[in-house]
Amino acid sequence: MSPIRGYVFDAYGTLFDVHSVVEAGREITSDPVTLSATWRQKQLEYTWLRALMGTYADFWEVTEAALRYAIRQLGLAATDAQIRRLMDAYLSLACFPDVKPALGRLAGRPRAVLSNGAPTMLAAAVTASGLTTFLEHVISVDRVKTYKPSPRVYALGPETLGASAGELLFVSSNGWDVAGAKAFGYQVAWCNRSGAPEEELGVRADLIVDALDRLPR
Ligand code: 2OP
Repeated sequence: MSPIRGYVFDAYGTLFDVHSVVEAGREITSDPVTLSATWRQKQLEYTWLRALMGTYADFWEVTEAALRYAIRQLGLAATDAQIRRLMDAYLSLACFPDVKPALGRLAGRPRAVLSNGAPTMLAAAVTASGLTTFLEHVISVDRVKTYKPSPRVYALGPETLGASAGELLFVSSNGWDVAGAKAFGYQVAWCNRSGAPEEELGVRADLIVDALDRLPR
């Protein structure tokens, strides 16, 4: 890998553990893992569809729409108060245990989040998880009103950090996000937390790790 001048991290699934959403799901279903998985998949599908249609709505709106779909798809019922509590879980996600040690070890070069998350969602999650002092930048796609894997989103990394994509290491647990960043020109590390197979998208990560503390300084 050529020298790295900065780090750009995906947020949900990479830094933040969406598992605490599962806990909140117990209130409306005996199978909160299925609810969480269905919700997450539909949330991502809606970002891709809205980006392609050019009908941007922020990640908070898309996340709530995906939750309402998942509830109906699974034949569940939820009051507005229960939906509010499920949505609020996104504002106080825990970060994975390897995140602070890894970000601490990488201090000295700029560390950024680049996420589909809406600015207020990201600010709340960064604060709740205690990551404020571990990040120099928090970048939301809301600046360009589209979603990953649009190149317009990945361009925000070099723009904000003042380095070319090839001088930055992009880190994500989401294989599709890894492909988008690699296609844009970043050096890319895939933090394959779930042991997923590699995507067949014509590009490959430069490095595969199972936790962030394996990242090269
Ligand atoms: C992100 O944080 C949703 O994981 C995706 O951009």
